Amino acid sequence: MANVVVVGAQWGDEGKGKIVDWLSERADVIARCQGGHNAGHTLVIGEKAFKLSLLPAGIVRGGKISVIGNGVVLDPWHLVSEIEKLRGQGVEITPENLLIAENAPLILPLHGELDRARESQASVAKIGTTGRGIGPAYEDKVGRRAIRVADLADDATLELRVDRALVHHDALRRGLGMEPVDRDALLAALREIAVQVLPYAAPVWKVLNESRRAGKRILFEGAQGALLDIDFGTYPYVTSSNVIAGQAATGTGLGPNSIDFVLGIVKAYTTRVGEGPFPAELNDDDGQRLGERGHEFGTVTGRKRRCGWFDAVLVRQTCATSGVSGIALTKLDVLDGFKTLKICTGYELDGQKLDYLPIAADQQARCTPVYEEMDGWSESTAGARSWNDLPAAAIKYVRRIEELIQCPVALLSTSPERDDTILVTDPFAD
Ligand code: IMP
Repeated sequence: MANVVVVGAQWGDEGKGKIVDWLSERADVIARCQGGHNAGHTLVIGEKAFKLSLLPAGIVRGGKISVIGNGVVLDPWHLVSEIEKLRGQGVEITPENLLIAENAPLILPLHGELDRARESQASVAKIGTTGRGIGPAYEDKVGRRAIRVADLADDATLELRVDRALVHHDALRRGLGMEPVDRDALLAALREIAVQVLPYAAPVWKVLNESRRAGKRILFEGAQGALLDIDFGTYPYVTSSNVIAGQAATGTGLGPNSIDFVLGIVKAYTTRVGEGPFPAELNDDDGQRLGERGHEFGTVTGRKRRCGWFDAVLVRQTCATSGVSGIALTKLDVLDGFKTLKICTGYELDGQKLDYLPIAADQQARCTPVYEEMDGWSESTAGARSWNDLPAAAIKYVRRIEELIQCPVALLSTSPERDDTILVTDPFAD
């Protein structure tokens, strides 16, 4: 059986929600492997809209196992409130259909406070984070002072872990002019939430390996996008986890040889939320139009997304670093009605032509795009379900993208509706 990894191949918000939902219908197990509740998407199933940011998309479907892997940073209070909201909408969530890795590190209130305090320091350039404590929680994981899900089960261990974390955090907070953490209140809150989280704790790596041996289909649901990857993204304007496809293995405990297909989700133009370089950004009427037509506002923070032309250099790069087998191209219909379209095919930097984005932040900021112009189309592509429904200029645009990014289109999504999809290659095909 095939196992599929879904990754965002730009800066996130590529429309993963619909594709993951579409694939999760055919998967047995759906696993998150990085990020936390900084992600966000809305799934529309029948008449109901479900808002998810931490739970895997499979949770809203019966008969699936949803997994939160060790690569995720877990805010237990957010988890419980998301579970309660979904239950209120009639979704059944039990330890039979939701498993949380025992070795997943927790996001504590102090992480969110630190995240927001840093972002508000006037002397340091902002990253534009979601303010949810993601970065500080990953720092504690790597600094070996995180509190992990399994620690909630033993009170003596929990106290030791909290004390270890507070030695670090209280010193940091003093430096930022913040009050020290109220140790007793934190411990009390953790003990209270523990009873609601522990029933879901499981050796996820073992369950996934057994599922794989039993021939189950596993879908790894990536969050954010590869250009926000801590190693390969536009550092330091990135998130704090690995986002590229290799993370599916380390973030769940299933070996890399269990990944059969990597599906990169790619928007037909480019957007980004938060700060950082964006060579093909448009600060003009075209950019405004993309934002309006594409409803480009963040799901988690409501921030307006920055918009620009399709950047083939970046997507070629992310397809390479994630080993993308095929892409799902989304939101093509947003380009309907543009007389001409531009695709970024390279950069100019200090008089030199580049076919990749350099790693140094100052160079990234100085790269200017080299564009190729293409004819647009006046017809609507919204809702197209076969190539025959698309105008010739739209097909040409898609084919040119494939050529430039050196990766084929596996799926083409033409509206938020699940069935408005053109399937070229089935990622789950054996
Ligand atoms: P953090 O993940 O909250 O630390 O934010 C770091 C950067 O990643 C910021 O630029 C955020 O806007 C961006 N980011 C985090 N999560 C998402 C997402 O799900 N979609 C798009 N951008 C995101």
